[in-house]
Amino acid sequence: MAIDLRSDTVTQPSAGMREAIASAPVGDDVYGDDPTVNALEERAAALFGHEAGLFCPTGSLANQLAIRTLVKPGEEIIVETRSHIVRAELGAAAAFSGITTRTWAAEHGLLRAEDPLTIAHENAGPYLVSTKAIAVENTHNFGGGTIQSISEIEKLSAAAHARGIAMHLDGARIWNAHVASGVSFTEYGKHFDTISVCLSKGLGAPIGSLMLSSKERIAEARIWRKRYGAGMRQVGVLAAAGHYALDHNIARLAEDHARAKKIAVAIAAVDASIVDPKNVATNIVGLDLTAIGISASELTNRCKSAGLLISALGPYYARLVTHLDFDDTQCDAAIEILKRTLVAQ
Ligand SMILES: Cc1ncc(COP(=O)(O)O)c(C=O)c1O
Repeated sequence: MAIDLRSDTVTQPSAGMREAIASAPVGDDVYGDDPTVNALEERAAALFGHEAGLFCPTGSLANQLAIRTLVKPGEEIIVETRSHIVRAELGAAAAFSGITTRTWAAEHGLLRAEDPLTIAHENAGPYLVSTKAIAVENTHNFGGGTIQSISEIEKLSAAAHARGIAMHLDGARIWNAHVASGVSFTEYGKHFDTISVCLSKGLGAPIGSLMLSSKERIAEARIWRKRYGAGMRQVGVLAAAGHYALDHNIARLAEDHARAKKIAVAIAAVDASIVDPKNVATNIVGLDLTAIGISASELTNRCKSAGLLISALGPYYARLVTHLDFDDTQCDAAIEILKRTLVAQ
């Protein structure tokens, strides 16, 4: 079977997770009757020091529900150029909520508080679009799994709030940021008005994300979730996977980070222009193929023929993501394939 490093979403639920799914107490969640969902929402909210949570099928929905509680039609959110919200949610903020988006660009997606603060324009009057929210992605997926500095987050949050601008955290991989940086979930949580977190990325659940915020915003988002057709019934079977993921799969992310670093070091030894291991802080390895002149699709095809699946995310940008179904033996095999394919003519 091929080694699959396209994403950390490709994992299989473990035997223990499947048992938890099978034995979950459930109820009709649209009526608020599912004890496993209710407990997961309370648990996740408490973890980040927020009042309430809302279980969602996807991180995209959690992001979009959060954003629409912060920004009204005709107003704007600002985000980093390569953030998931603007690049990979198919224009949802505009399509569903009438929200406009403006971007700032950051090397490796890394936040510098002054970048969004410089372009933000709150209460812009009758001619310009008013900025109502700033979103931060942590870790930053297309930036290469980079971790945002807590002091930049703190600076940005304080200045944004002083100007009446709300803060959203796309925390699909906040677990990775926490494990690698040691910053607590409550420390991350306190700087944001809304948060999205995913259980279906590095934590290995088959599905499940949460929006976290105040009771009031969650109540509003609950109505919109139903309006979008994502009110779910005996969905405790999925929330149970989420509980299992939180119980068992956070600390082990350090292993994924170590394997990603090992891959980056091996690739840098082939050609240092492709990746700088210093920039590989978590489980994502971004490959810049510009200097070696192999397109991302060419490399992806070569790897596939050799039994390794990776993603082409730009003409000369490829990505590998380590995860809980990828062990040391596969890591060594993947490195051998990459070494061969990167030098082949
Ligand atoms: C940073 C980030 N945010 C949000 C999402 C959206 O998650 P989903 O695929 O569950 O909609 C992803 C998915 O990969 C992501 O990487």
